[in-house]
Amino acid sequence: MTIQQTKLPQLSADEIARVRQPLAQAYTLPPTAYTDPEVYEREVALIMRKSWLPLARVDQVAKPGDYISLDLFGQPVMVVHGKDGEIRTMSRVCLHRAAPLTEDGAGHRNLFTCPYHAWSYDTAGELVRTPLMEGADGFDEMSATEKGCRLPQIRTEIWNGFIMANLDDDADPFAPQVAGFTKFFDKFNLDDLVVVKTLDFPSNWNWKVLVENFMEAYHHIATHATTFGPVFPASDSNVPDNDGAVASELEGGPWSILHMPTNEEAPEAADTAEASDSSLGGDLYANVIFPHFLLGIQGSGTAWYQILPESHDRLMLKIHFCLPRHLAEEDKDGAHAEATAEMLTIIHNEDIEANDQVWRGLNAPLTKQGRLSPLEKSIWQMNQWWLDKMTDAEA
Ligand code: FES
Ligand SMILES: [Fe+2]
Repeated sequence: MTIQQTKLPQLSADEIARVRQPLAQAYTLPPTAYTDPEVYEREVALIMRKSWLPLARVDQVAKPGDYISLDLFGQPVMVVHGKDGEIRTMSRVCLHRAAPLTEDGAGHRNLFTCPYHAWSYDTAGELVRTPLMEGADGFDEMSATEKGCRLPQIRTEIWNGFIMANLDDDADPFAPQVAGFTKFFDKFNLDDLVVVKTLDFPSNWNWKVLVENFMEAYHHIATHATTFGPVFPASDSNVPDNDGAVASELEGGPWSILHMPTNEEAPEAADTAEASDSSLGGDLYANVIFPHFLLGIQGSGTAWYQILPESHDRLMLKIHFCLPRHLAEEDKDGAHAEATAEMLTIIHNEDIEANDQVWRGLNAPLTKQGRLSPLEKSIWQMNQWWLDKMTDAEA
């Protein structure tokens, strides 16, 4: 196994070698992987701007003219449901003097009119109106033909109702990369989900602190000792292979699946039964498609944890609670959505406290890599993938 440590200068060869060990001997990533702004810049260049990332659910832009705006690692983008029925992701930076056309958030428009000098774009991103441009040589003809006057389009794929986008024009298509994952969750009909409630959590940690917290159940023994712990015991949790064995031989899927069987004997199990469906069972799955597409699936209820990293030490987390369309329609008064949101908030507040403490510890000068538990196989899986990406090319 060749380790290209010289290409990731913020980590030492020894640190990388410890992460590359088989799970039974493996260590965590070193603190610098989380706290060094230069590592984050490298992640943006080598991972974030080259990966498929979930921007929205199709049901969040259900009608032509619906849009969602967000910032994709320095690129303001919007997902727009076009008048022609097509869902597109495009830059929302005006072609005139670069003012963003919309604020972050969701809305509905027939025309996107720039707030600076009122150039307007249609729902496909074509420039259709440019006031007071008479006298700019050749410009009228250009806008009349509408050639070259379109907001830059970003590659978009719809997967199971998630609108996925990739800033890299040369990236491989998404669906074939996650074929094994798609098959694993086929019976859960993720395609049919609609978002019924969204909770926002601005958070001051590195994005990997949150992902790692999401992907292992080991911490149920302490962090969630009286909530999740009894229902989803840490010791029962398991992580199937993602077909990837070791490090650079990784040929498997870019994901991890944490399976948490329900302890039916726990009195608290009844509380979580509501979200389950007998045909699907009550087991909980916490899944990550790398780098940070987080899906918690239990029965017919799915929680999509949308992470929007803002810097090495800050992110916005949006927890979208989703239900199958028929259950969402039955839940007219939103009672089911509210109850689930309340439960998720209790659990997440426990995780916030843990993540706050971890972040403090990661920033302490004496902190070093720690040993992984075999129950943290998913972290090990992601670390191998992360190193493959981060050492794969010159940044
Ligand atoms: S910057 Fe948009 S119209 Fe001038
Ligand atoms: Fe947790």
